[in-house]
Amino acid sequence: MNHGDGTLAAGAQDRRFGPLGTALVIIPTYNEAENIKPIVGRVRKAVPEAHVLVADDNSPDGTGKLADELAAEDDQVHVLHRRGKEGLGAAYLAGFRWGLERDYGVLIEMDADGSHQPEELPRLLTALKGADLVLGSRWVPGGRVVNWPRTREFISRGGSMYSRLALDLPLRDVTGGYRAFRRETLEGLGLDDVASQGYCFQVDLARRAVKAGYHVVEVPITFVEREHGDSKMSRDILVEALWRVTAWGVKERVTKITGQGGRNRGRR
Ligand code: GDD
Ligand code: MN
Repeated sequence: MNHGDGTLAAGAQDRRFGPLGTALVIIPTYNEAENIKPIVGRVRKAVPEAHVLVADDNSPDGTGKLADELAAEDDQVHVLHRRGKEGLGAAYLAGFRWGLERDYGVLIEMDADGSHQPEELPRLLTALKGADLVLGSRWVPGGRVVNWPRTREFISRGGSMYSRLALDLPLRDVTGGYRAFRRETLEGLGLDDVASQGYCFQVDLARRAVKAGYHVVEVPITFVEREHGDSKMSRDILVEALWRVTAWGVKERVTKITGQGGRNRGRR
């Protein structure tokens, strides 16, 4: 049985969900030289049995080389070197593919800049025992953001609210990037036709998971704004998110009106 906060009632391991298996924490990086070593160290300490995959887009600041140094001294750290900056979505798709080709049971998304605290990972994994997908959520009770400028919080809350309404999603934090997927969930999302490049990649996956009928649980997190380096948020990323979310919303409504599809039964 599920509580709103994603925890399971005592002893109530839902029989539908099998054991979790080994977790792979995928960390996409573009110019995170100051952050990469501390964050990987924190992950290794917080969840010692998990592996880490750094998906670096050939960062000019040498993040990829620093990741190689970590991998050289630790069997549980891996690096995926990509040609150049192709966006968060492409980096995650490549990381997921890498993990699914191997023996991982859980694939985790996490930012490199410390905004997603590795120390909260055990809580996400506990919730995943009774779910198909767990979202670390800033906008459920108990969730919060630290040191975010007002404008940024406004954009994020607004983006979540717009996505929630346009796509009819029963979720509070639709754009967040701290997530734990069961392997089977990712395999069921149809990743081959995901075209989203920027942060709307997160909205895309959340919407696919809900539409496919997966059990998605939000767990409150404390999101801490980065101290080092810069956000890659840009006008282009916002514009892409706005037009894609709008297009998905329109398409779903047209499908409903013309009576094709028949998804979303029982929900409005
Ligand atoms: N490989 C790769 N390629 N990594 C990227 C790229 C890219 O093109 N763009 C961003 N990243 C990496 C960053 O290096 C960082 O580790 C992570 O993706 C998040 O990027 P930030 O630039 O720190 O994101 P943010 O703080 O502005 O945005 C946060 O909020 C978004 C909206 O809620 C993050 O939590 C995002 O995941 C989230 O979608
Ligand atoms: Mn960030």
